[in-house]
Amino acid sequence: MELNKSDNRGNWSSKLGFILAAAGSAIGLGNIWAYPSKVADNGGAAFILIYVLCCFLVGYPIMVSELAIGRKTGKSPFGAFRSFGAPKFFGIVGLWGILCGFMILSFYNVVAGWTLSYVFEEIFFFAGNADLANWFGDLGNGHKNAVFSIIFMFLTIGIITGGVAEGIEKATKIMMPALLAILLFMIAFVFTQDGASEGLIYYIKPDFSKITFDLFFKAMGQAFFSLSLGMGTLITYGSYLNKKANIPQAAFYVTMADLSIAFLAGLLIIPAMFVAQSSGVTIFDEAGNLIASTTLVFNALPNLFHSMHPLLGLFSGVLFFLLLSMAALTSTISLLEVPVSYVIDEFKVKRKVAAYIIGFAILSVSLAIAYNLNLIDLFSTIFNDIGLPLGGFMISIFLVYVWKTNNALIELNNGYDGIDSSFFGKLWPFMVKYISPVLIGIVFFQTIYSLIR
Ligand code: TRP
Repeated sequence: MELNKSDNRGNWSSKLGFILAAAGSAIGLGNIWAYPSKVADNGGAAFILIYVLCCFLVGYPIMVSELAIGRKTGKSPFGAFRSFGAPKFFGIVGLWGILCGFMILSFYNVVAGWTLSYVFEEIFFFAGNADLANWFGDLGNGHKNAVFSIIFMFLTIGIITGGVAEGIEKATKIMMPALLAILLFMIAFVFTQDGASEGLIYYIKPDFSKITFDLFFKAMGQAFFSLSLGMGTLITYGSYLNKKANIPQAAFYVTMADLSIAFLAGLLIIPAMFVAQSSGVTIFDEAGNLIASTTLVFNALPNLFHSMHPLLGLFSGVLFFLLLSMAALTSTISLLEVPVSYVIDEFKVKRKVAAYIIGFAILSVSLAIAYNLNLIDLFSTIFNDIGLPLGGFMISIFLVYVWKTNNALIELNNGYDGIDSSFFGKLWPFMVKYISPVLIGIVFFQTIYSLIR
């Protein structure tokens, strides 16, 4: 029997629709903006290795947990954490997740605004209007950042008010394949340029001396961010899922899709950095550290587009930033959906009203960030690198000690017959119990220890 599943919450219209929406949530600026600069900052393939481990040993088991909790309870995170007779304390966990989503969206929205403003940067560059191109391309211009944050938030609210299947799902179905196509095309192009192979080596040659606990901490935070875990996005998306969906399989597809797009983005952006370097742009400081990794993508890529044949450059530049904006949009909607569904569920407010109220509240924080970009690093450390793994830790505790893995397996059996005797059915309970929370615990302990030492 369904647990208090209210009728008007909406549902995904198809299995593919759900996978695309979840992949759309996962794939975003985390893959194309954050991942490449973290790899470049942290020793290339050494980071990739730890990152992949974090995705499979910590991320994937928690993704399955979130989806199962969401489908079973049919609620947003706050309500879900108060199900199964959980101690009241877990309500705070739900609220913490909602707060993390709120704060992450506030800076994400500013970066998403950049992707949109770069569509215009490209147009005016190729139209020969350098002044306007520079204006749209100026990441430090507070007024411009504010304008684009406002535009982006309205786009996000617009889709959220459209509801689950109509809004989120339709938008994603078109955007994701197009994004993959332009990525592949740009990778092919970048390797025709001088310096690209140097970038490739930098990307895939591991520097194992860089593997430290700090690297683990960053890779873990990045895995949670990129897979959209730890704050209840996938609990919420799971609550719109029907009983026929095979959750372990869907989660696997989403993890693989997310990893693949990140890997491809690295294959484009790190070589593009080195191409920029060989055309005179400084990307590393004297100590060999990246200069301002938050703005990296926005410096390296236009350099590439501008070096193309003008028509091709215009076409690729506009298309790329447009698609990147859309990838960001399928992520911002998943971030906004969590607090919105919380307000709908708990305060019985109409979807539209909830979306505007929460959207404007987040926007007000965004505007502060638009003028103070250094808040991005601060917020992402607190709410992403610390907040999300902490949330993930609590999710596994909730699953193991409150709901219990046996009950979760019964839920997961819907859509995956005979899960008990399957390889997954043996491995996953072990992972959520012993591997994921323990790894998160060790990384946290070490990080705190190194801070107070
Ligand atoms: N995963 C998205 C990205 O990589 C960002 C995102 C969307 C997110 N929803 C989330 C991050 C929930 C953390 C939690 O761009």
